[in-house]
Amino acid sequence: MVSVNEVATTGTIKSLPEKFMYELGSIYDAEHVFREGIQVALPLVKNEQVKSLLEKHIKQTDQQIKNLEQVFNTMGHEPIRIPCEAAAGLFADGEKLVAAIDNPAVMDVAIAGAQTKVEHLEIASYRGLITGAQQMNQTEIVDLLQQNLQQEEQTAQTFEQCLPQLLEQAMSAGNGSR
Ligand SMILES: [Fe+2]
Repeated sequence: MVSVNEVATTGTIKSLPEKFMYELGSIYDAEHVFREGIQVALPLVKNEQVKSLLEKHIKQTDQQIKNLEQVFNTMGHEPIRIPCEAAAGLFADGEKLVAAIDNPAVMDVAIAGAQTKVEHLEIASYRGLITGAQQMNQTEIVDLLQQNLQQEEQTAQTFEQCLPQLLEQAMSAGNGSR
């Protein structure tokens, strides 16, 4: 039996299921970090569409966290957060960027862009986990992870579609070119 606690504390991975559990713990941590990131970003957003997208995505993230807990459960483990350095890094980068911005329209562009980066990290993570679950013939787990992946893909796409309009607003506000 794979012990994710052991993997988390010793850092020793000897099999693909152990690698899967490690990466599951990592995305489980990342989802919590990114949920907090959205909460930090929300009061800074002026654009109504970006605001409602972020609000919707907090609710989706809550469900995604539950789905991950069900994956842990199916694997016979308690949920465990394995600190995701990439998530912490994106969070820190986002914080640094918004602290430097003094223009509401530019802020909206920056937050939408930062959220897009987050979604792409999540997409890559879920794709890798789904491949691992398929190798282990864990169809229930594949289904749960697919639900999360689809929401991340949809969110990334929606933010990407918003960006041209946000850029235009920042430009017409007169400060986009400075
Ligand atoms: Fe997401």
